[in-house]
Amino acid sequence: MKDFDGKIALVTGTTGIGLATARRLAAGGAAIIACGIDRAANAAMRAELESSGAEALVTAVDVSVPDQVRDAVAAGVERFGGLDVIVNSAAIHPYGTATSTDFDTWNQAMSVNVGSIYLTAHFGIPEMIRRGGGAIVNVASVQGFACQQNVVAYATTKGAIHTLTRSLALDYARSGIRVNSVSPGSIRSPILEKAARGENGTDADVEAAYRRFGEAHPIGRIGEPEEVADLIAFLCSSKAGFCTGADYKIDGGLTAGIGVK
Ligand SMILES: NC(=O)c1ccc[n+]([C@@H]2O[C@H](COP(=O)([O-])OP(=O)(O)OC[C@H]3O[C@@H](n4cnc5c(N)ncnc54)[C@H](O)[C@@H]3O)[C@@H](O)[C@H]2O)c1
Repeated sequence: MKDFDGKIALVTGTTGIGLATARRLAAGGAAIIACGIDRAANAAMRAELESSGAEALVTAVDVSVPDQVRDAVAAGVERFGGLDVIVNSAAIHPYGTATSTDFDTWNQAMSVNVGSIYLTAHFGIPEMIRRGGGAIVNVASVQGFACQQNVVAYATTKGAIHTLTRSLALDYARSGIRVNSVSPGSIRSPILEKAARGENGTDADVEAAYRRFGEAHPIGRIGEPEEVADLIAFLCSSKAGFCTGADYKIDGGLTAGIGVK
């Protein structure tokens, strides 16, 4: 018996941590409903999961659009018979200060990074209640605790995710639904690659930037998406039955210190 046999899991984001989580849950026996805006990544995920023998419905969804999230939940429930797990990993990472960030960008960050978690909960929780409970994991960030400069919209969304996680946890604890968040430090993924390239342009030495980012983490390296996926899988599993309303850092010690040597 595998840890997710018979479970149905919706995952947003089809690259990076979302992809690694879908792989991990599928390897554990879950049927996967994946929602992503990147059609090439969706196709690659679909091909990989199907060739591994997993049951997967990978759909092109903008997770900030209510009707698209509603339809994806409905299609997944129709195909697999219910919903037990939601992992919210989709996000955008705009750069800017309050004066350089325009209102559309601000609103888009709120809609994609936070609004999507409300939407998957709004449409997904009634389905979980029908199954007698479930688990939700939201991917936040260390930037919800202590942030860098020039990421006002992104960092604000990550703090909001911590609060939304607690709020959902309290409201649905007695319905058997556990809600937690994870807060990664730097993790090898397309978002981090963009950050690495952003500093020096498209010809940047990404691996050198990763080594520099890694040096900022007490453990001396950046993390891997699979490491985050394992933590998410634990929180989604029955082994985490007493865990709800909490955030779990996975940051190589980054936020343990005050960063002054
Ligand atoms: N990689 C890191 O260093 C790091 C650190 C802390 C937190 N995080 C968080 O981890 C999560 C996953 O990021 P990642 O590192 O895997 O990077 P990623 O860029 O691979 O993942 C983000 C995914 O969200 C998708 N997405 C963006 N807008 C969307 C939309 N409107 N609708 C549907 N999908 C959309 C992207 O296509 C992408 O697949 C994000 O919430 C990110 O903020 C990442």
